[in-house]
Amino acid sequence: MSNVIRLAIVDPQDSTREALKAILLGMDRVWLEAECSRYEFFSDVVAQTEPDIGVIAVDADPEKALRLVTQLNETAPECSVLVTSSSTDGDLILRAMRAGAKEFLTQPVKLDDMLQALDRINDRRSNRGDVKSRGSTVIALAGATGGVGSTSLAVNLGCALADDERNSVVLVDLDLCLGDADVCLDAIPDFTLLDVAQNAARMDITLLKRSLTKHSSGLYLLPRPVQLDDVDEIRPDDLQRLVGLLKATFTHILLDLSKSYGPLDRLALELADHVLLVTQLDLPCLRNVVRLMMSFNEKEGLSEKIKVIVNRIGLEQNQIGMKKAQETIGREIFWKIPNDYRTMVEVRNNGVPLIEHARKQPITQQILGLAAALSGDPEKSAGEDEEGAAKSTFSRWFSFGK
Ligand SMILES: Nc1ncnc2c1ncn2[C@@H]1O[C@H](COP(=O)(O)OP(=O)(O)OP(=O)(O)O)[C@@H](O)[C@H]1O
Ligand SMILES: [Mg+2]
Repeated sequence: MSNVIRLAIVDPQDSTREALKAILLGMDRVWLEAECSRYEFFSDVVAQTEPDIGVIAVDADPEKALRLVTQLNETAPECSVLVTSSSTDGDLILRAMRAGAKEFLTQPVKLDDMLQALDRINDRRSNRGDVKSRGSTVIALAGATGGVGSTSLAVNLGCALADDERNSVVLVDLDLCLGDADVCLDAIPDFTLLDVAQNAARMDITLLKRSLTKHSSGLYLLPRPVQLDDVDEIRPDDLQRLVGLLKATFTHILLDLSKSYGPLDRLALELADHVLLVTQLDLPCLRNVVRLMMSFNEKEGLSEKIKVIVNRIGLEQNQIGMKKAQETIGREIFWKIPNDYRTMVEVRNNGVPLIEHARKQPITQQILGLAAALSGDPEKSAGEDEEGAAKSTFSRWFSFGK
């Protein structure tokens, strides 16, 4: 899997070292490169194994450990140091940071805290250009109104992303009452979001992965609850923790929102790196895009994440033109997906994704292109080179309506 973070640990105390290892070993994104029980050997261990992160538990001998932090900072600047201690003494934290530690976690280390610290270190490393991309991308799929095609896009984009072996992708169905992502994939899941929410307190990555259903395309799915009565059991806190856990394992987390824009949907918008706002080219849809954008503008950082996706281009003769649509909504259209009623009926009825059933069709090529564009892959976002067909499809659709 891509974006694996390589770690080395030093902790002379067996019990805390084992506890930390237990947390780290549950994370697919983390590879434990080396463990060490003596501070004096750790510099050599780091020099030999060149980990991304060196975890130094300082309690056994804080003075010696802090000298090691300083030393690593000088001899191995590429290795980000994360310090752990059972002490919350401000002086110790300050000294650790001054010695060059990037993060300080209090023992016993909580999984959520570790995940967030790893994310922060990873973010800083990617800003420095040490790693190519962030560990994990959260993509929310929202619709301008019911039936615009957000679930179809979520499922098929998920499969398109999973088609690239460097990616590991999960789709969470947040349309808690009427979600149908499982039907689109012809999946009969054993567990749902409800099971995850009910076990939120004791949920770890291993348990979470057992709750997911894997489709043959490689896409993992977490569906909505079965019973309507269970819908209220899922709270924003549960979703926040769930997404945190999923980030430890998956490169892409897709959230298919409901059209109610309730608390869970709004939290999903906040958690997302990209929000794909799906619309069609008719007046009611475009007016809703304008209205939604006005609300999104109120939330700091949200409007920049919005990417407008126009679906079902060519559906009707009297559809609003692309130029007019852009003027109406006052922003660029990020991606366009053609109308293909026949293919969509077939894939929906058979519960198969587009890439399995109709890979060469323009609709599929556009979704593959979108997947590549979201992964920052400009070459591939122009479609598959195979027989040169896809690329011309891309240009055709991009010139459409201009
Ligand atoms: N590009 C397309 N071409 C033709 N039909 C499409 C296209 N995209 C979606 N559809 C069809 O539109 C219908 C609605 O799609 P979908 O369920 O994905 O929308 P939705 O926005 O998730 O709806 P809901 O509001 O119910 O969640 C489905 O029958 C689907 O097959
Ligand atoms: Mg839907």
